[in-house]
Amino acid sequence: MLSARNIHKSYQDRVILNGVDVDIAPGQISCVIGPSGTGKTTLLRVLCQLEKEDAGEILVDGEQNTAPWPKVTAVFQSLFLWPHLTLRENIMLPARNHNPQADKDIEGLIKLFEMNHFIDHYPNQSSIGQRQRVALARALILNPKYVLLDEITSALDVEQTARILTKLTHLKERGIGVFLITHHLGFAKRAADQIIFMSDGKVTEQGPPAILQTPTTERLKQFMSLAEIGA
Ligand SMILES: Nc1ncnc2c1ncn2[C@@H]1O[C@H](COP(=O)(O)OP(=O)(O)O)[C@@H](O)[C@H]1O
Ligand SMILES: [Mg+2]
Repeated sequence: MLSARNIHKSYQDRVILNGVDVDIAPGQISCVIGPSGTGKTTLLRVLCQLEKEDAGEILVDGEQNTAPWPKVTAVFQSLFLWPHLTLRENIMLPARNHNPQADKDIEGLIKLFEMNHFIDHYPNQSSIGQRQRVALARALILNPKYVLLDEITSALDVEQTARILTKLTHLKERGIGVFLITHHLGFAKRAADQIIFMSDGKVTEQGPPAILQTPTTERLKQFMSLAEIGA
């Protein structure tokens, strides 16, 4: 289990996370939804310790103060691919020192994400959808137990989005815990094992996808009715 316990985080005087508790179970998809500016990305950054919490603790399989990477890896909207390396080299770069089987594992990932026809191209020769799959593969080749994904499909069209989201269910089968910040409520309803609804720096509601149909808090009710308009 990857757990956040009573996390508090402020920037200057502004409280961004105000006592957040979440548990991300291996082999499950946890979808994080909520309005912009409510601390979803900040929580993700604290979970992988790119950002240090002011109070509270992060437990990786029960252990505190361990470096989460590479057991916990993350993919951000800005993909951070090296422009002078091919996509294959971008994937292999972090893997060299951490996964002795990387040469073999990359072949499995190329297959999973259907990357065979473009894997030896450079990032500037590739579409955003292709680069997105590469960033995901780069996070997975470290054989993480948990992957944290921050709105990774927001720059993609509906078909590319569906393709990536479908692949996430394969990660479940591999026993990986997926923490996915997303606007895709349809996917969250269908595929999530757990929904985490954040507003104003807190987890306001949490539970199975059914909470989206029958929210108990006013805040989630309001969010869902607005989301229907945008859907
Ligand atoms: N490094 C930072 N310094 C100052 N403020 C920040 C920083 N990172 C995020 N914030 C602020 O924290 C708030 C929450 O941001 P964020 O976690 O990105 O929310 P979300 O992902 O839910 O949209 C925003 O108002 C944002 O401007
Ligand atoms: Mg965000």
